[in-house]
Amino acid sequence: MSISLKSSEDIENMRIAGRLAAELLDYITPFVQPGITTGELDKLCHDYMVDVQHSIPAPLNYAPAGHAPYPRSICTSVNQQICHGVPGDKQLKNGDIVNIDVTVIKNGWHGDTSRMFYVGNVAPHARRLCEITYQAMWHGIRLVRAGALLGDIGHAIQKFAEAQGYSVVREFCGHGIGRNFHEEPQVLHYGRAGTGIKLESGMVFTIEPMINAGRRDIRQLSDGWTIVTKDRSLSAQWEHTVSVTDDGFEILTVSAGTPPPPAFVHGKPD
Ligand code: MF3
Ligand code: CO
Ligand code: CO
Repeated sequence: MSISLKSSEDIENMRIAGRLAAELLDYITPFVQPGITTGELDKLCHDYMVDVQHSIPAPLNYAPAGHAPYPRSICTSVNQQICHGVPGDKQLKNGDIVNIDVTVIKNGWHGDTSRMFYVGNVAPHARRLCEITYQAMWHGIRLVRAGALLGDIGHAIQKFAEAQGYSVVREFCGHGIGRNFHEEPQVLHYGRAGTGIKLESGMVFTIEPMINAGRRDIRQLSDGWTIVTKDRSLSAQWEHTVSVTDDGFEILTVSAGTPPPPAFVHGKPD
């Protein structure tokens, strides 16, 4: 297996899929309120994808080796849940933080993005975790350009997150994406500077750091999917799909509601 390079026509298709994924997060934002269940959020998103966007929810029935098919259309990871939270009867309550991770397929191409949402009034320590995780994602994205090394990206994310007193989840990573949901390369959110493959123009991958307030250790729930922190500390995650260009990067998962880059990013604008 090798890393596929996308043509400009492929990238144009991925812009469309990426925009739809981001617009799905825009759509669901006002519904993220105390009292709604994660299952209701899933149903709203599913129907929006299928009926409005005419896109396909990539997670539904997704079955990588060693996993039962994923039973829902989005992932909702609340508080100490790190990723792959399966929507269900759980009601969101005031003070929760929740990651909503969506992946749409449009014309055979994938767009994958996630954001953190605040449910009602959220405590400062939880807000800080979400903000730092957003900045950690951007500390990685800002280094993306042809010629950069993948290890430098993981290193930058890890160094920043750990300097803030947090830990980086190791078991899950960003990934190449295109006609497939998960392709090469694996994009680790930790690593050593000066190591890893050299990026080339036309590569497309996600950067999606999972940052824990406590220790990095994880546990899988008996549903076979939901990943939680072993020490039950809070966890946050943000995700963009990005393409590599000769002079930097392009964020493909962009919509009207996409938060702006942090002030430290001097990359070219979207
Ligand atoms: N969207 C997740 C990612 O960023 C993958 C979810 S796989 C699922 O890679 F099956 F849990 F949906
Ligand atoms: Co995702
Ligand atoms: Co992803």
